[in-house]
Amino acid sequence: MTNQITIRAPGTVANLVCGFDILGMALDEPNDIMRMRLLDEPKVVIINRDEFNLPTDPLKNVAGVVLLSIMEKLQNNVGFEVEIEKHIKPGSGIGSSAASAAGAAVGANHLLGNKFTSDEIVQFAMNGEKLASGVKHADNIAPCILGGISLIRSIHPLDIISIPSPDLYVTVVHPQIEVRTSDARQILRKQVLLKDAIRQWGNIAGLVTGFLKNDHALIGRSLEDVIIEPVRSILIPGFDEVKSKCLGAGALGGGISGSGPSVFMLSTTAAIASATEKVMMNVYEGLGIAYNTYVTTINKKGVEIID
Ligand code: HSE
Repeated sequence: MTNQITIRAPGTVANLVCGFDILGMALDEPNDIMRMRLLDEPKVVIINRDEFNLPTDPLKNVAGVVLLSIMEKLQNNVGFEVEIEKHIKPGSGIGSSAASAAGAAVGANHLLGNKFTSDEIVQFAMNGEKLASGVKHADNIAPCILGGISLIRSIHPLDIISIPSPDLYVTVVHPQIEVRTSDARQILRKQVLLKDAIRQWGNIAGLVTGFLKNDHALIGRSLEDVIIEPVRSILIPGFDEVKSKCLGAGALGGGISGSGPSVFMLSTTAAIASATEKVMMNVYEGLGIAYNTYVTTINKKGVEIID
């Protein structure tokens, strides 16, 4: 059995605008890097190799709780050491906690000689999301592990469907403000109007069909969220301006990435994706808010063992 491995865990865009908690997509950039080692005593050691100062107490660390849940299931004398080099900023809305959780679960499974099914790996990884956001959701975890686009039809019982990913470009802007997923969930209304639910169902079905048929126009017009975005967008300065100007620059559509504050847009060509990036940069320069951007593509492989 290999005793030490290096893992690359991709960033993800959850929700894909209309599919709150049920759709997600993996990105080729950014990625976290994790080095994991099997220990012959039942403990978890976390070593941070970045500037984010995340907790190293395994009970308070996303990767830590995932590894502890695996050890609880195994009931034997192994443990794990994990060095985490995060490039996906915590609180960015591009699946930082999911990358740690999914990377830890996939890495541990590999070190243990692939004992677990992919559903079990997702279940373990969801313990990390529960710690990070207070709720088990798999719309970052599943695409992070599997790559491409995932539909989470149900988490009780787990029913995850991989959807063929179109060859689209993804532009992401991360304004440097922090929106905690737990806060962004708390402000949501607990009830929706039937007319809004009907419109949202139409969009989700349209988006999935658009991906299956590679119908760009259908994807574009289905990227509409009448339930979550009107509430959450107030937490993101410049959101409406970014969205309307990106559409003006030719992007197919987009919206809040996960619970924000990042905003993503899908485009059909590299030229449109980079014009979209310029629009995003201009808006945040104008607002005097620091930001990062990524112009990337859909990651089709998910978490990879790279060494
Ligand atoms: N579906 C989750 C939410 C994703 O929007 O709260 C969080 O990244």
